[in-house]
Amino acid sequence: MEGLAAHVRACRKCGLSAHRRNPVVGEGSLDATVMFIGEAPGFWEDVKGRPFVGAAGKLLDRLISSAGLSRSKVYIGNILKCRPPENRDPRPDEVEACAHYLDRQIEIIRPKIIVTLGRHSTNYILFKAGLSVEGISKLHGRVYEANVLGLPVVIMPTYHPAAALYNVKFQGELERDFDVLRSEVEKLSLKKEA
Ligand code: URA
Ligand code: SF4
Repeated sequence: MEGLAAHVRACRKCGLSAHRRNPVVGEGSLDATVMFIGEAPGFWEDVKGRPFVGAAGKLLDRLISSAGLSRSKVYIGNILKCRPPENRDPRPDEVEACAHYLDRQIEIIRPKIIVTLGRHSTNYILFKAGLSVEGISKLHGRVYEANVLGLPVVIMPTYHPAAALYNVKFQGELERDFDVLRSEVEKLSLKKEA
């Protein structure tokens, strides 16, 4: 992971490198059972070089605790490592240039559960798993047993926490989805004990 981080810090493979203050590689446990995948750094992430440290990050921290997990035990990454100007959506050419770093992170961490936050990471991971991609409002909170990069993994798409900052309706949905996550985590630990 350190080697990969060095590559990301030096990366100039897409235009976003021109505007970034700090790339955000991702952080957390390399032994994580659960990996969260967001979209791209925002303002504060770009300033600090760490994922989910702004307002959406505070909400994500609360949700992570509600699922019986802690930030130090999970891994948090993004599809794009550099902030798009004005937090605009990732462009397909940027995803294409950057996502192999995320793939490599998945291969290093080998998570048992991948939680995709928002439609961009959901589309990317479901496509990778060969699953059909519907709207996030339909498939959030569902659990898919799938194969990503040759690894058996449970995928759970949910809303991006930033969505809940704009519309409280999404907060309740996110909380329910994280209850589903909690039971998936419990199932895994029961399996381990058995
Ligand atoms: N939103 C994201 O998708 N990722 C971050 O790291 C922060 C905000
Ligand atoms: Fe490189 Fe990704 Fe940053 Fe583009 S967004 S410069 S591909 S690290």
